[in-house]
Amino acid sequence: MTVTIVGSQLGDEGKGGIVDVYGDAADVVVRYQGGDNAGHTVVRDGEEYKLSLVPSGAVRGKTNVLGNGCVVNPATLFDELDALRERGLDPDVRVARRAHVILPYHRVLDGIEEDAKSETDSEVGTTGRGIGPTYEDKAGRRGVRAGELADPEILRDRLEYVVPQKRALAEDVFGVDVGETEAFDLEALYEEYSDYGRRLREEGMLVDAGAFLADRIDDGETVMFEGAQGTVLDIDHGNYPYVTSSNPTAGGAAVGSGVGPATVGDGEVVGVVKAYLSRVGSGPMPTELAGVEGDTPGYDGDAADHEEELADHIREAGGEYGTVTGRPRRVGWLDVPMLRHAARTSGFTGLAVNHVDTLAGLEEVKVAHAYDLDGETLETIPATTERWADCEPVFRSFDGWQDVDWTAVAETGYDAVPDNARAYLEYLAEEVGAPIYAVGVGPDREETVIVENPF
Ligand code: IMP
Repeated sequence: MTVTIVGSQLGDEGKGGIVDVYGDAADVVVRYQGGDNAGHTVVRDGEEYKLSLVPSGAVRGKTNVLGNGCVVNPATLFDELDALRERGLDPDVRVARRAHVILPYHRVLDGIEEDAKSETDSEVGTTGRGIGPTYEDKAGRRGVRAGELADPEILRDRLEYVVPQKRALAEDVFGVDVGETEAFDLEALYEEYSDYGRRLREEGMLVDAGAFLADRIDDGETVMFEGAQGTVLDIDHGNYPYVTSSNPTAGGAAVGSGVGPATVGDGEVVGVVKAYLSRVGSGPMPTELAGVEGDTPGYDGDAADHEEELADHIREAGGEYGTVTGRPRRVGWLDVPMLRHAARTSGFTGLAVNHVDTLAGLEEVKVAHAYDLDGETLETIPATTERWADCEPVFRSFDGWQDVDWTAVAETGYDAVPDNARAYLEYLAEEVGAPIYAVGVGPDREETVIVENPF
């Protein structure tokens, strides 16, 4: 039995909380894409753990796998593992031999390319973790896989081929002098990364992910696939080029872990939805309220007062500030065409809708039910980002719901959710074609109304 958790929007939907609530029943937690660009906070026994690479199951004593579809920064991996051990935990994390390794030059090049793009205001707003450049090298067949770190001769061969190319890319293409920088120093890289390889091998962390998972599933164990980022950040199904470089959608769970698609498809796929929309970085956002200077394309700080107030209110109430940078996130109304697209690409069997409490107290709650594009009504996102940017939301309005004791609501169950909020949720379920499995009504673990547990 497998359960796959997928972000339906632009990341930051609160997947961590849902993984946490459902994860208790999982024996194995697998990440299948992305790397240390995925900040998540896990709270256990009142203790808060901030992780960006290690799956959240590590805090709960599960077996965790970083699948072949991930890009692994070993420095982050061992920092996070050491920090967990210092706090008395004994994390069990396996790394796919086929996963690609983020090297220091990937991070430097991520920054260099963003700087170059910023000259024409076309930067993506990446997390700067080297994600894109690492997947580029994977596709370009010049990457380094985790399994190769443990084989010093192969590692040296790979680095001898690739490091001079990376230096030339920085210096000759982008005109950035990287001089003696360690990130481009072959010997320094070899020393540091063969050490990581030794550690991965000695700690028995390297696995053939597909075979490892197949054995566990054959033994009757339950597996949770933990998607990072979200559907509209998917390299194929997202708003290219304002995307990450992997596949957060459910198909990625099969390719990125080495199990067959039927293994994922026979299980449940839960789409996580934030009850409104938030976005980090650039790109279109038809339902955006006001804007954030520097991130919202073309925004110069000039918005209608009531929109500014509403955006500030939602941002404050929902804590919509970047976990790492503290940057304000862009916020807007829920975008239903986006959710129809997400449900289709991943085949959602259920929805978990978070932040329903954040909208409490508003007189009116709006959603984009459809788009108007040059007089035509669209029910889903157009395939090109430029056309998406031209879409005008066709809004539907819902009566707001009152602020209540949400912990009590979570204890009592779905029937205690205010009527107007339930009308909103049921409309969503109907439009998206998947039932409500959970409703997030606060940041704590206890503040989730569980309607259905997919395990
Ligand atoms: P990258 O994944 O660092 O290459 O960033 C590419 C895009 O994905 C940027 O717009 C980032 O803001 C966005 N992104 C990456 N990871 C996350 C996340 O965990 N939450 C929200 N946005 C993300």
